[in-house]
Amino acid sequence: MADNKWGRRIIYQIYPRSFKDSNGDGIGDLNGISEKLDYLKDLGVDAIWLSPVYQSPMHDFGYDISDYYDIDPIFGNLSDFDSLVKKAHSKGIKMLMDFVPNHTSSEHPWFKESKSSKNNSKRDWYIWKPPRKNRTTPNNWLSQFGGSAWELDTKTGEYYLHTFDVSQPDLNWRNPQVVEEIFNVMRYWIKRGVDGFRVDVAYYLFKDPFFRDEPHNPAYTDIHIPYDSLLHIYTVALPETLNMLKKLNNIVNESDDMFMVCEIYTFLHEIINLYKIVNHQSFAPFNFSFISLPWNAGEQKKFIDEFDELVGHDYFPTYVLGNHDQSRIATKLGEDSSRLAALLQLTLRGIPFIYYGEELGMKDVEIPEEKVKDPMAVNMKSYNFGRDPERTPMQWDGSKFGGFSNVEPWLPLEQEFKERNVASEEEDKKSFINLYKSVIKLRKTRKSLQDGKFIPLDFKNPNILGFLRQEEDEKTLVLANFSEEKQIVELPKGSWKTVLSTKMDVENRKEQNQVNLGSTEGIILV
Ligand code: NOJ
Repeated sequence: MADNKWGRRIIYQIYPRSFKDSNGDGIGDLNGISEKLDYLKDLGVDAIWLSPVYQSPMHDFGYDISDYYDIDPIFGNLSDFDSLVKKAHSKGIKMLMDFVPNHTSSEHPWFKESKSSKNNSKRDWYIWKPPRKNRTTPNNWLSQFGGSAWELDTKTGEYYLHTFDVSQPDLNWRNPQVVEEIFNVMRYWIKRGVDGFRVDVAYYLFKDPFFRDEPHNPAYTDIHIPYDSLLHIYTVALPETLNMLKKLNNIVNESDDMFMVCEIYTFLHEIINLYKIVNHQSFAPFNFSFISLPWNAGEQKKFIDEFDELVGHDYFPTYVLGNHDQSRIATKLGEDSSRLAALLQLTLRGIPFIYYGEELGMKDVEIPEEKVKDPMAVNMKSYNFGRDPERTPMQWDGSKFGGFSNVEPWLPLEQEFKERNVASEEEDKKSFINLYKSVIKLRKTRKSLQDGKFIPLDFKNPNILGFLRQEEDEKTLVLANFSEEKQIVELPKGSWKTVLSTKMDVENRKEQNQVNLGSTEGIILV
């Protein structure tokens, strides 16, 4: 295993609006995060990824940036940011910033200029097109947030492209001035001390220069969002985009010990292709297989075995159980299976990304209609689709607002927060948080879990996923029973001792040549 440290690090995603409110406005902020660094350290987190904290009108909660060089006052200011970075570093915690290069806010001064006239020097910083001859949109491209991806500007008579909300115009990556400016933004934050970036919708940067219509998706049914009715062959994953990701990574590599992770929802071979193109240990794309593939041992094993092999030992796989755009894992799979997922995520070779609250087993919260905030939910009401349920406040304790704030938070708390919170789970030996802490502790103390090879095992049992991690002569065995029935598993040669179970109970285990796994139980043996 190469000695890049990112392959060992555990990364924790913070959605700043919902982590900790320090100034009593019901919205989380940077100083709130600073207050909780000891909590993160104690959990075993090595790096945090902050969802966007740049200046923004917040139509898409920070993914619509109006100034890349400043912090939004909702979250604090540059000096709060600097002190957070400094404090995190002093505790050995790295900081990744979310980075949104595909689009800005329509309130960004660049867009205001661009919109002001066809002759403005920034006109070409965004993607403008005249209507088609029949006075309709330039082509059939769709917005992920519903409707056409084109919006008419009546003043200049042209349409601008917005892959997301109408308030998020796409930048024109074919303009070298845009590229240069985005590189400057990255250098600015690196100079301020960040250790890298999570790149938002990294597959979208370049669009077809001929603006061809996208073909209909024959697999589409109306249970999917309308955006999925087209095959995005002219707007996603163009070769120019892949090469640009390599260039963004080169900027990151101007400093040491940096990392860049890209948001890309795609299939295995495209993920692998991207590793090869960028070709640097400071880079990895997200892998969403845990949440996108069916939750059974066979499908998951097939993917993991192939993925680990194809990524190869020079690079690091990533494993994700959730984020601010996905329903929470404990809601999707239930508590027992999400414990199993966490065990796998933290013991497989590669980089785990923990979404805040996953360590508590936090669930989606049903949001009453009048409290819905997500623009996607508001724009596409009939699809019953929204991301607020997974963005609710972190549950710190059982006090009135869950220890998140001393006023009513911007989104409601989970109803069960009085039982499911950091303070009460820390007291309960068998809690989710204590499972996370125990697995992370093992991961950090066993060299086979830190740096070891991943060796797939086949137990000829469709309910069992198992593997070995091995570094020199140290071996760790991980077994996961995906079924609700007990399973008896023959152990590989050698003498094994169970040291951890997702049930947080390993007393009285007898293993000689075989081990009994309870319903939906995962165990670690050494
Ligand atoms: C992906 C982000 O994760 C999501 O929250 C956002 O709405 C879109 N990109 C647009 O930036």
